[in-house]
Amino acid sequence: MDLFEKTMAAAEYLRPLLPNMVHYAVIAGTGLSGLATDLEEPIEISYDNIPYFPQPTVEGHVGKMVIGRMGTSHVLILRGRFHYYEGYSMQEVTFPVRVLKALGIHKLIITNATGALNPNYQTGDIVFIEDHINLFPENPLRGLNDDRLGLRFPALSEVYDKTMLSEAIRLAKESGIRFHQGIYVGLQGPSLETPAEYRYLGKIGGDVVGMSTVPEIIVAAQCELQVLCISVCTNNPFQDGAKTTIEEVLEVANKTGEKIKGLIQQLVA
Ligand code: HPA
Repeated sequence: MDLFEKTMAAAEYLRPLLPNMVHYAVIAGTGLSGLATDLEEPIEISYDNIPYFPQPTVEGHVGKMVIGRMGTSHVLILRGRFHYYEGYSMQEVTFPVRVLKALGIHKLIITNATGALNPNYQTGDIVFIEDHINLFPENPLRGLNDDRLGLRFPALSEVYDKTMLSEAIRLAKESGIRFHQGIYVGLQGPSLETPAEYRYLGKIGGDVVGMSTVPEIIVAAQCELQVLCISVCTNNPFQDGAKTTIEEVLEVANKTGEKIKGLIQQLVA
């Protein structure tokens, strides 16, 4: 089976289980799985029941899809994403995004945990991503292009949707949430960066760094989805005596999850 056929098989399995119209999908990043807890009339589908869906292997990523209502909208939340560092191929990492497209979903909200490169960012801050720098060693569109999946050379100039971004900013201001607009640098991980690497990534124009999102964004662009990306700044490597640990990342992501949840609820409603 090729990627198109696998995508169709997953979508065909899911379609009868979902409401007619799903307005938004959300990819819940590291420690942000709690986003799904307030959905009304939730339906849960385990990833291992969905044809060709990979299984997450890392802590903080549950491996379930939850669909439910937030206000008047139906929302599909992916509790757990796939990272390139887990050993998945780029096609596997981005498979869920293709399935969302096949299900007729147009709006995607991506969340993630990031380390600060911008010295003004504090842990627990929210960062709305307006652009990215791709430092992954591979691109998910490498290989023969199947035109049924989208363009050979999709543009990335407008993948971060300006309307969703300005709405999110308006809501964050209204709620008095500390936030920034910034540039995400995507690296494969899983080791965290050295002090010299953090400095370098800041110098080339990054505001935050993380190990996900960029492959998903590239495929979302090929699928012509509108994307809003919300990062939690979980650690600031430039603080005195900073030593970034995954425990710290998870703790801050869990704490900040409530702020992001509130924002997404307002946005979607
Ligand atoms: N580096 C890379 N990825 C991350 C970080 C970091 O400092 N924090 C959270 N995800």
